Amino acid sequence: MLAGKHVLLGITGSIAAYKAAYIVRMLVKEGAEVKVLMTVAAKQFITPLTMATLSRNPILTEFFDPENGQWNSHVSLGMWADVFLIAPASANTLAKMASGVADNLLLTTYLSARCPVMAAPAMDLDMYAHPATQEALRILSSRGVEIVEAASGELASGLDGKGRMEDPETIVDRVRVLLGRRESLRGRRALVTSGPTREAIDPVRFISNHSSGKMASAIAVELARRGADVTVVSGPAPVRPSCAGVSVVDVTSAGEMYSAALEEYGRGCDITVLCAAVADFTPAAPSGSKIKKNGESMMLELVPTRDIAAAIGERRRPGEVVVGFALETDNAHDNAQDKLRRKNMDMIVLNSMRDPGAGFGVDTNRVTLFFRDGGSEELPLESKTAVASDIVDRIEKLLEGC
Ligand code: C5P
Repeated sequence: MLAGKHVLLGITGSIAAYKAAYIVRMLVKEGAEVKVLMTVAAKQFITPLTMATLSRNPILTEFFDPENGQWNSHVSLGMWADVFLIAPASANTLAKMASGVADNLLLTTYLSARCPVMAAPAMDLDMYAHPATQEALRILSSRGVEIVEAASGELASGLDGKGRMEDPETIVDRVRVLLGRRESLRGRRALVTSGPTREAIDPVRFISNHSSGKMASAIAVELARRGADVTVVSGPAPVRPSCAGVSVVDVTSAGEMYSAALEEYGRGCDITVLCAAVADFTPAAPSGSKIKKNGESMMLELVPTRDIAAAIGERRRPGEVVVGFALETDNAHDNAQDKLRRKNMDMIVLNSMRDPGAGFGVDTNRVTLFFRDGGSEELPLESKTAVASDIVDRIEKLLEGC
C-alpha cells in the first residue's frame, strides 16, 4: 500500500518529535519515499541528522539555502507529496494552519498542498483542551485535514491527560487507510443538504431550528476526501464545509432548499445525503412589513413545506444511494424505518435524542443506522468526524451492492 508513495512529513516543536523517527522508519521500511520538513523549533527536539539519515533525503526547513541560494519550493513539495503528514503538530502550528499564517516552509507548504493532509497533535493536556486549540482543530477538520486525535496518558510535563501524540503504528495505519481510500469515490457526484432553514414571518422574524450543520459538513468533507465531487445545499448554518472538492450553494428557506437541491440532483448524483433539518411548515402569508404588537394575541397560519427527501425518493434512478436523517422523540425506531420506506431511501440515520453527547451543536453523535432490508446497526458515541466516516463506509458498501 505504501510502496512507491510520496510521504511528506512535517515535524514541529514538541517532545513527541522523537516519535517521528519511528514513523519515518516504518514508512521507509514499507517502501514509501519520505521527505522531511522541520520547523526551527523541531530541531531542538530531534536532530536533522537523525531525520535525514532515516528518510535518506536532506531535511527542509528554510525557504532557501543561505549558502548557495537554492530555493526549496513549497509548491513543488506539495505537488510531489501523495500525503502531507504533520506529526507531531504543536498547538502553535495548528493555530497558524487554521488562520493561514505562512511564516515558515512547513506552513507555506500546507497552504499550497493539493494532497490530503493529516495532523497528529501533541501537547500538554491544558493546551490541548484550550478552546483556541480545539477551535483550530475544528476549523482544520472542516477544511478536510484529517486529525489523528491525541491519546490520553502520561505527558512529558508529568501530568496525566489527553495530549499525547498517537503511537507511530496508529499514525502509519491512518496514513495507509487515507491513501487507500482516497480514490474510492473518484468520479462520483454527491449532494448533501445541510443546516436549518428559515421561514419568514415578516422581514425581521423567522421560524427556524438549532441545526448547526456540523454533521452534514463532516459527511461532505469525508465524501470529498474519498474523491467525490460534492455539492452542499446549505441553509443558514454556523458550520459550513470549506474544503477542496466541496462547493456550497447557500439558501435560506425550505422552498429555496427544495429548488436548489432538486436542481443539483437533476444534474446526476450517485450519492444523496439529506442531512438538513428542513422546516416542515412555513407561514402561509409572510407579512411584507414588520408585524406590530397591539396587545392582542395573534394566529399564524402555517402551511406544509415540500419534502425534498420524498421528491428525490420518487425520482431516484438505479445505481444511486440515498441517505436520510431522522430525529425522533417518540417511537424512534419504528418512525425511522417508516420514513426510510416512505421516502424510498437506502439508509436512514437516527440521531439519539437521549444522549447528552448527541444531536444539535455538539461535536459528538450517537446514531443508529437502518437499512432497506430491515437491518440496523447501532454506532457508539463518537466524534461527528468518526460518525461521518462510518456513514460514508456504509454508503460505499451500498454503492457496491447497487
Ligand atoms: O420527515 P422528517 O422531516 O423527519 O424526515 C427527515 C428526513 O427528511 C431528513 O433526511 C431530512 O433532511 C429530510 N427532509 C427533507 N425535506 C423536508 C423535510 C425533511 O429533505 N421538507
